[in-house]
Amino acid sequence: MAGNWKMYKTAAETAAFFEKFRPLVEQSGHCDIVICPPFPSLAAAVAAAHGSRIEIGGQNLFWAKEGAYTGEVSGPMLVAAGAKWAIIGHSERRQYFGETDESVLKKTVAALEAGLRPIVCVGERLEQREAGQTEAVLLNQFRDGIAKLDPEQFAKIVIAYEPVWAIGTGRTATPEIASEAHRFIRGQIEAHYGKDAAAQTRILYGGSVKPDNIKGLMAQREIDGVLVGGASLDAVGFASIVNF
Ligand code: PGA
Repeated sequence: MAGNWKMYKTAAETAAFFEKFRPLVEQSGHCDIVICPPFPSLAAAVAAAHGSRIEIGGQNLFWAKEGAYTGEVSGPMLVAAGAKWAIIGHSERRQYFGETDESVLKKTVAALEAGLRPIVCVGERLEQREAGQTEAVLLNQFRDGIAKLDPEQFAKIVIAYEPVWAIGTGRTATPEIASEAHRFIRGQIEAHYGKDAAAQTRILYGGSVKPDNIKGLMAQREIDGVLVGGASLDAVGFASIVNF
């Protein structure tokens, strides 16, 4: 159960969130819990989560370890800050910051080399869904990105299916629509990496996940967890998602 805070919460707001959130998920041993704050709030999140089961992730990284890349942050820097995870290729990164399947692959490899667990995002835009291209889009994103990992690298990633039309729009994919896309992705994994890998890969759903729709989504066998944006900003709300 992963929270993507996007560009929300200062360090002080992060500390306040954890004070409320921590006790609410103390007993939640059924899942991994990950919070991905903006970079300047990473240290506050790591300190506030210390000694709990909650792990911290970055929302992006650059593939070089260091160098003259103004404004970028590397995998080893995230690790040094205490992060264990990194979201990669989120649709907002693809849409506003020019990320491609190629950059997503480079960042995924860099994250793995740094020892981070990548949460790699895929998903179609509204016009692609309406044109009946969902499977073709997912296939391309898989083939040009994820499928270039070797099996050992692949075993360490988590995939997030995030239909772009459901992100921040209040329009959740129905559990059936999400499930169908997950099944398609899992089929690609099976074809490429084999049955065991397909069964073991965690595929998260993301897009307007809320406390009132989490049960229906998690009831689907294909949905292994969720990547939550807006609803992860509220400690009580996100705890109720974690403890669905
Ligand atoms: P949302 O965002 O839950 O606010 O729709 C999901 C995401 O972008 O990961």
